[in-house]
Amino acid sequence: MNRKKITIVGAGNIGATLALLLARRETADITLVDIDEGIAKGKALDIMEASPILGFNAHVTGTADYADTANSDVVVITAGFPRKPGMSRDDLLFKNFEIVKSVSEQIKKYSPDAFVIVVTNPLDAMTYTALKVTGFPKERVMGMAGVLDSARFAYFISEKTGISVENIKAFVIGGHGDDMVPLRKYTTISGMPVTNFLSDEELSEIIERTRFGGGEIVQLLKTGSAFYAPAASILEMVIAILWNKRKILSASVYLDGEIGEYYGASGLCVGVPIVLGKEGVEEIIKLDLSDEEWQQWRKSVESVRKLVEKLPL
Ligand code: APR
Repeated sequence: MNRKKITIVGAGNIGATLALLLARRETADITLVDIDEGIAKGKALDIMEASPILGFNAHVTGTADYADTANSDVVVITAGFPRKPGMSRDDLLFKNFEIVKSVSEQIKKYSPDAFVIVVTNPLDAMTYTALKVTGFPKERVMGMAGVLDSARFAYFISEKTGISVENIKAFVIGGHGDDMVPLRKYTTISGMPVTNFLSDEELSEIIERTRFGGGEIVQLLKTGSAFYAPAASILEMVIAILWNKRKILSASVYLDGEIGEYYGASGLCVGVPIVLGKEGVEEIIKLDLSDEEWQQWRKSVESVRKLVEKLPL
């Protein structure tokens, strides 16, 4: 039986961390692609040299040539510029648009049956770009943001309550920007409402910190943005697809038809709860939101729409 093949475009902080995580789980063979061939080859070799110690049999190779990515099952796009202090994710729009567009053309050419997971910021606009440029069915193109934002929310709740992270299920929807929508009602600790454990005020503080969670890391690192938690979040999505987990998680996906009307976001990619399995986005789940949450959701959707309207697509 052939092994699965995963291509990671961008062998930077997120791409290389993801390659190591995927290799350790022996999920597939991995091709790291970077415009800088030495970075891709060097990081791939470094990871392989860890394999005798860590004991994994996956092969990781580095390249600058998309022909080496042919027939990938999953392609993850992390190529692009990360934020610097003082920059919003949206400041990256035009620079990263050109990169994601050219990468998407290569994916379409070499891996026409792949699932595509977009990580490059601004996330929702870049996911839309990949969808339009590849022309792939909407079930096969998605953006990783909600898993990360939800993980940050969960970690902060664990930190505040002193309860294990394993017990916390947090949920964040909306665009991957500072007006994302963390949901109180759908956030639980071992099935119990989070509001049983934290006051309104405590929760509001945590929600605010979650919204600026990416920025907090950028401020600390100064030379780049977060990569451990983003890589872990992508790992969860890749495994959900390859192992047909049918996992409910939040991801940026294309909203059209009835579900787009329901969310007031037709024709855009925005973070919503989905069921992720071997067909990709197998379902989009409707949520019952409070008036305040709908208001926040609409604001978040409008931010995404404004960016997408600027794209020369
Ligand atoms: N094709 C392939 N690789 C490219 C291209 C391209 N056209 N342009 C840039 N790259 C590579 C860079 O050479 C670099 O190695 O993408 C890599 C990006 O790595 P980092 O700068 O370390 O960025 P990272 O922290 O991994 O974030 C990547 O994800 O979260 C987002 O905002 C973040 O958009 C950024 C992306």
